[in-house]
Amino acid sequence: MKKSTKNIKKLDILDEVDKRLRTISEEVKFPLSEEDKNTINDIIDYLTNSQIEEIAEKYDLRPGMGLAFPQLGLSKRIIIIVHEYEDGKFDNYVVINPKIVSNSEEIIAAEAGEGCLSVNRDVEGHVPRFARVTVEGYDENGNKIRIRAREELSIAFQHEIDHLNGILFFDRINKKKPFYSEN
Ligand code: NI
Repeated sequence: MKKSTKNIKKLDILDEVDKRLRTISEEVKFPLSEEDKNTINDIIDYLTNSQIEEIAEKYDLRPGMGLAFPQLGLSKRIIIIVHEYEDGKFDNYVVINPKIVSNSEEIIAAEAGEGCLSVNRDVEGHVPRFARVTVEGYDENGNKIRIRAREELSIAFQHEIDHLNGILFFDRINKKKPFYSEN
């Protein structure tokens, strides 16, 4: 029988004041535990549902496109990004032990600033990010993967990898000049 309900599980996401968000997460060894696989699936479901407006409203989910394991208090180098590349269409990225192996010279910033599921307030200011990055790491089965990301997706990868190193996005905002100008 087909399940008629989606998995609407709320995640226990740490708030920015929690010191566990400020630590360097540990490298992951393969094979992954069943528990880690389940957590990955719960995160994918959450991020997907949270970006579908009707579901997010109905279940009061804060929208987010990425989450890193340390945000759940798990010191593991695993990031998940659910990218809405087209209206209502999502690509899932699960990268274990991710590393940025190359980046563009060009720097960009999300125009409206960045948000984070661990930061329950608006933080104003531009976060400088590489316009393009190549990320290497492993998938859930331990296969080596390589992803080229640009623009919004590039920003998301840098934001999530920062979480593995205890960095929150607002650390990177220039306090004296928080906004860029085109001129
Ligand atoms: Ni975040």
